[in-house]
Amino acid sequence: MVEKVFLCRNSELKESAMRQVAVAGIDASLVVYKVKGKVYATDALCTHGKVALREGDLEGTTIYCPLHGGGFDVCTGKAVSPPCTVPLKTYSTVVEGDDIFGLLED
Ligand code: FES
Repeated sequence: MVEKVFLCRNSELKESAMRQVAVAGIDASLVVYKVKGKVYATDALCTHGKVALREGDLEGTTIYCPLHGGGFDVCTGKAVSPPCTVPLKTYSTVVEGDDIFGLLED
């Protein structure tokens, strides 16, 4: 089953920026990114040490963790820079008007 949840307003998310969003109902947070006008969403915590990725650096489509500098591709979740090896969970997004939604699967 897929649940469509509101994440944030598209107009409030600047290009090459990210924002952490608390998702009602699943007791979790996601990070939403905008790169070249496209919107991506991932889990909020690095898979290496459970650190909040919102404090990291977004360069192109790579988010670099603030603690050890490991990187993930926000499009695919693939770990692209050590010490990260475990992929980051990603979520499909839908933009409707000014609203960004995430599609969460059970
Ligand atoms: Fe993120 Fe180590 S905690 S790279």
